[in-house]
Amino acid sequence: MDRIRIVGGQQLTGSIPISGAKNAALPLMIASLLTSDTVILENVPRLSDVRQLMRILGNHGVDASIDGKRVGQTETTGDTIRLNAASVVDTTAPYELVSRMRASFWVIAPLVARMGEARVSLPGGCAIGTRPVDLLLMALERLGAVIDIDGGYAVARAPGGLKGGEIVFPKVTVGGTHTALMAAVLARGTSVIENAAREPEVVDLADCLVKMGARISGAGTSRIVVEGVASLGGTRHRVLPDRIETGTYAMAVAMTGGDVHLEGTRPDLLQAALDVLVQTGAEISTTNDGIRVKRNGHGIDPVDITTEPFPGFPTDLQAQFMALMTKAKGTSRIRETIFENRFMHVQELARFGARIRLDGDLAVVEGVRTLKGAPVMATDLRASVSLVIAALAAEGESTIHRVYHLDRGFEALEKKLGACGAVVERISGER
Ligand code: UD1
Repeated sequence: MDRIRIVGGQQLTGSIPISGAKNAALPLMIASLLTSDTVILENVPRLSDVRQLMRILGNHGVDASIDGKRVGQTETTGDTIRLNAASVVDTTAPYELVSRMRASFWVIAPLVARMGEARVSLPGGCAIGTRPVDLLLMALERLGAVIDIDGGYAVARAPGGLKGGEIVFPKVTVGGTHTALMAAVLARGTSVIENAAREPEVVDLADCLVKMGARISGAGTSRIVVEGVASLGGTRHRVLPDRIETGTYAMAVAMTGGDVHLEGTRPDLLQAALDVLVQTGAEISTTNDGIRVKRNGHGIDPVDITTEPFPGFPTDLQAQFMALMTKAKGTSRIRETIFENRFMHVQELARFGARIRLDGDLAVVEGVRTLKGAPVMATDLRASVSLVIAALAAEGESTIHRVYHLDRGFEALEKKLGACGAVVERISGER
């Protein structure tokens, strides 16, 4: 298992290219199951979750290939992936393939919509709370699927095809909205999705589906209306920039100080988080091609946050923001409302000397003057990158173990940080 060694204390200066969004690439890849034509996705990040999903889609019979190198391509230019699901040979997504990544459960929607049946292992993924799929299954039922749970699998059947219906989500769910959209596009008649997730990745999926011939209105609002069509065609689509990667590096700069251009991203994708960073004392400006983040001298001001569905402060940046607050000039309160048990980074941050008290869904962070390097263990995707941020700002050396969590969601992390002056290296193999 690889680990990452960081010697903290350097300011970050330079440019970081922002990759395509993992959380958009995954549903877009899954949407290729909806058509027998080829879907070409550009700007796909090179991540282990993407590779794993290619294996899962391959198991269903999807031909998936990555285009070779092109002139002008750099190590951080995203991949172009071609997906063709002309012959779906298997509608079962087995435990061995699905258990490692929660989003792979979403294949249930296009499979039942196009093939009339799907058998998908109940999901695994990050250990951040129970993360049920009841609402995803409810959405499919509302569109006429019959659902059984059998031997750890969710089995969905709709032999005569899905029918349009009204889906009212009792809470905002990104995966539920993706699932509902992918099912509704091929259902007979009109579907309405109420209390839909408004995340930019939902809009990206809807944009791609529309290019494939779907009829969707209202994506990006909490009410999405879909008029089903008989079939969809292929398309070419560019994955939108990763707002979580953007916010992560912005927080790293806010913590270490320095001046970094985050290239190829958009401020509107994470305005709430950028507003909070400004309150902490960071300077943020928009450039032609991204965002510039600066912080000099003046310490970090404490700010209270509550995680919320988009457009609120994202739960996927909560751990990184907590790392930043560990060095603030005072006390901040961080409330996590999306996932229970998403505070596993707290005990690891404490190893750097951070002072954090937990009380249910609230973390109270008392800023300290200095953090000290330490060996720490990554526990989940976003938690692990919060340890990287803390290590960059800590005095001395840190080692982060179990970095496979990072490889699921952050492309070329050590190269991107190293290019901005961070002292960071990957050490391969067992300790
Ligand atoms: C997606 C993101 C993840 C992000 C999360 C919230 C991907 C691949 N992952 O995850 O990075 O942290 O959105 O922004 O895009 N819930 C239920 N029943 C369900 C489904 C969800 O109770 O059937 C609950 C969850 O436990 C959670 C809340 O709804 O408390 C939101 O979860 P959801 O938005 O569905 O998260 P994911 O789509 O899994």
